Amino acid sequence: MESLEEQWKEFFGSGFYTEAWGMRTDYSKTKEQVDGVLNLLGPVTGSHILDWCGGWGRHSFLLAQLGYQVTLLDFAPNHIQRAKNKLARKKYRKLKIKCLCKDFRETPPEIQADFAINMFTSGIGYLTQEDDLKALQSLNLALKPKAKFLLDTMNLFWIVKNYQSDSGRYSPKDERVLVEKRNFNFLENRNVSEIFYFNGLQKIETKLDHRLYSALELINLLKQADFETLEVYGDFDGSPYNFDSKRLIIISQKN
Ligand SMILES: C[S@@+](CC[C@H](N)C(=O)[O-])C[C@H]1O[C@@H](n2cnc3c(N)ncnc32)[C@H](O)[C@@H]1O
Repeated sequence: MESLEEQWKEFFGSGFYTEAWGMRTDYSKTKEQVDGVLNLLGPVTGSHILDWCGGWGRHSFLLAQLGYQVTLLDFAPNHIQRAKNKLARKKYRKLKIKCLCKDFRETPPEIQADFAINMFTSGIGYLTQEDDLKALQSLNLALKPKAKFLLDTMNLFWIVKNYQSDSGRYSPKDERVLVEKRNFNFLENRNVSEIFYFNGLQKIETKLDHRLYSALELINLLKQADFETLEVYGDFDGSPYNFDSKRLIIISQKN
């Protein structure tokens, strides 16, 4: 049986996420999320922002276009290559984005960013709690003193309140279908999903196994990694974290 680490590497590295998950991503939301990041963190133009597990840089590019210096870190070579290809285009060539293909548990300490963001439930919760702590500790060392860190993930309480054992998504434009069957592991607070994706004659089956943390658990984990939590929100517009907020956004500061 594949280890959790192998499963996740395959999930992203095979291009499955880019292909099928793209169906779920509303790109108009990216701008809203970046506006939220800027409102909640308040970085001065030119500051250095680390987009930690940033995929192919949908947030990095917008931030760099607004005048920030960005480091984009992700472990999937295909995601980093996609960002590099985009950066090579004339329109984006002048942007200050440095791409790093690295595991988040080995975030290079020499980055020394002023801010870090971790958007759309990325990396944290995928493996074990020990892995998450190791990753957060390496992030801490890669930031300047008093640097702020915004972590955006799913809200465990919303998921429990609205739990759907089955869900499906259909793209009328190109007739792609994505079906997800979920099971909740109550002893480990992990959501385990079987995913079926159909695109014409192509059928892909895969699995997702993901730990969902409460705010309290993440705050404690951040504390162990030497971050002090400053604020907690339920969305990028600064609304409260409660049973009805879909997101959990934690702003913390390196001690
Ligand atoms: C849900 S995607 C979101 C990407 C990006 N933050 C966004 O909002 O578009 C999660 C990302 O985390 C990356 N990732 C997962 N585990 C990682 C790890 N151990 N180290 C570095 N990146 C990782 C994946 O390759 C993927 O790009």
